[in-house]
Amino acid sequence: MTTRRPLIAGNWKMHGLKPSLQEFDRMVAAYDGDLRARTDLMICPPATLIATLAAAAGSSGVAVGGQDCHANAQGAHTGDIAAEMILDAGGSAVILGHSERRTDHGETDAAVRAKTLAAWRAGLVAVVCVGEHRQQREEGVALDLVRVQLAGSIPDGATAENLVIAYEPVWAIGTGLTPSVDDIAEMHGAIRAALVARFGEGVGGGIRILYGGSVKPANAAEILAVADVDGALVGGASLKAGDFIAIASAY
Ligand code: G3P
Repeated sequence: MTTRRPLIAGNWKMHGLKPSLQEFDRMVAAYDGDLRARTDLMICPPATLIATLAAAAGSSGVAVGGQDCHANAQGAHTGDIAAEMILDAGGSAVILGHSERRTDHGETDAAVRAKTLAAWRAGLVAVVCVGEHRQQREEGVALDLVRVQLAGSIPDGATAENLVIAYEPVWAIGTGLTPSVDDIAEMHGAIRAALVARFGEGVGGGIRILYGGSVKPANAAEILAVADVDGALVGGASLKAGDFIAIASAY
């Protein structure tokens, strides 16, 4: 049986100014002893704070990541950030294909695939997001849709170290709604099966699959206990150290 170390990751989205460093410092201070021994912790702040948080993380073991990157290493792309720049700022991972980027910026599976290659080129872990809209869930096509997203968004060359999948049902993001534990188990099982079918038991069985969408201290233990849920990608509740650490401690 493959052992996967849990990962609790925070996606700050477009939230965070310099005073947010105080919340991050509290997370770093709380990340020791048992928690550090059993769980990986990461915060993905806005790009403007990556270097600041990475410096504050020091040798604490708390990782810092980006929320997007361009497919190219450099060039005339005003407003974009290269994976190499995230690495240069002290980041070690990048969230790719979040539903907000797929919706707000029209990112396709092919674009996410190119960005994943860029992340690997720079030496970053790619946290690739997939998930269905409400209508797709109601029409019973959620599993198929996610399988298509996985196939299109993940390039060959994945390893248990360079790839993390985040299943985020779009209708659960920021709404307070979550799927039933049975639905989460079914989806994570399907994602695991797809990864094993494509990359083999060793790699496919080792890639971590996070659940994201309205994870809070109150529901974390129940969600994190589901088979093939290897951690969480947390939005709103990652902005407060107390909530984020409570979620991480629930694993
Ligand atoms: O990437 C995390 C996210 O989309 C979930 O957001 O606020 O529902 O935890 P939230």
